[in-house]
Amino acid sequence: MSLVATTGRARPRARLTGVGTYVPTRVLTNAELEEMVDTSDEWIVSRTGIHERHIAADDEATTDLAAAAVRDLLERTGTDPSSVDLLVVATTTPDYVFPPCAPLVGTKSGMDYVAAYDTNAVCSGFMYGIAQATGMIESGIARRAVVVGAETLSRIIDWDDRATCVLFADGAGAVMLEADEGEQGSGVMGVELGSDGSSPSDLWVPAGGTRTPRTDDTPRAESCIQMNGREVFRFATRILVESSNRLLTEAGMTIDDVDLMVAHQANERILDHASERMGIAREKVVMNLDRYGNTSSASIPLALADARDRGMLEDGAVLLMVGFGAGLTWGSVLVRWEPRS
Ligand code: ACO
Repeated sequence: MSLVATTGRARPRARLTGVGTYVPTRVLTNAELEEMVDTSDEWIVSRTGIHERHIAADDEATTDLAAAAVRDLLERTGTDPSSVDLLVVATTTPDYVFPPCAPLVGTKSGMDYVAAYDTNAVCSGFMYGIAQATGMIESGIARRAVVVGAETLSRIIDWDDRATCVLFADGAGAVMLEADEGEQGSGVMGVELGSDGSSPSDLWVPAGGTRTPRTDDTPRAESCIQMNGREVFRFATRILVESSNRLLTEAGMTIDDVDLMVAHQANERILDHASERMGIAREKVVMNLDRYGNTSSASIPLALADARDRGMLEDGAVLLMVGFGAGLTWGSVLVRWEPRS
């Protein structure tokens, strides 16, 4: 349904009530990558923790992945698609320059007339999407929101660049946020968002935008992900800890109040470093990048669903979600997991 509201009513909470996912069926293993570039399973596993990843079929694009994740979410939560009034798709790999993905995903999922738009903060996009939907719900503008993280990064990978092609992959995840007049301490409890645009080329796709439009002479590598891995690694390890701590302090909580940390799945070593620095037990840090690689804005909902499937996600659990990525951008969200019974 379309979004129509007056503001200034009593403030509801934004409750996190479900998660759905989709990954393409094609699995690309490290052994296959050994045939494509000068790398080894041993290097990839020891430096990143990744064993395999999913890659979209030629006829699959981001809205197909996103719509499949939304359908999984609607089925699991028993939600009538026409009751969703806000749909936010976080992606950096849209089907087109425009239209945005979200209206297409809404139609594919049966959400006629839903308020729908895309947001792009690369690997932090899902956190920005959650923050936006929370704001809309808390201000009384939206009642039931779906936030999707979906990427077809395989289309912007330089398959000759061993430094990046072993990392990135495709997938989609979606969550439901619903208005609830619940007590303090339920729903989304806080967000921390930030950015630093002083070194965009540390992680970017140089060509294809308005600064450097793609021409017939543009080398393919210029239209693909390029990364200063060491700088991004330094930034990621620092910001994961800083953003989490800022948010916990603001919320009057400590890391001991967190039941599960669901952070962006970029590199096992980044997550190990963060868990050590923050003093959170490794069993409380969700890791599934071994099977999915780095799926950018999709990685946090994919990890959340994995935690659910592995029985790590108890009703009422306090989740600390943290995203970080190109921009540079970052975002953390503290939220209680309150699935609809
Ligand atoms: N196979 C074999 N060797 C490789 C490969 C590969 N796939 N890739 C790089 N190497 C080589 C390099 O050429 C270098 O060789 P040299 O010493 O002869 O020059 C050597 O391995 C070490 O390279 P480093 O870049 O120093 O390796 P490092 O230990 O830093 O690991 C990595 C590289 C995994 C990319 C790491 O820097 C990293 O994880 N960075 C953060 C990446 C990240 O998280 N990006 C995304 C975050 S945001 C987002 O998701 C969009």
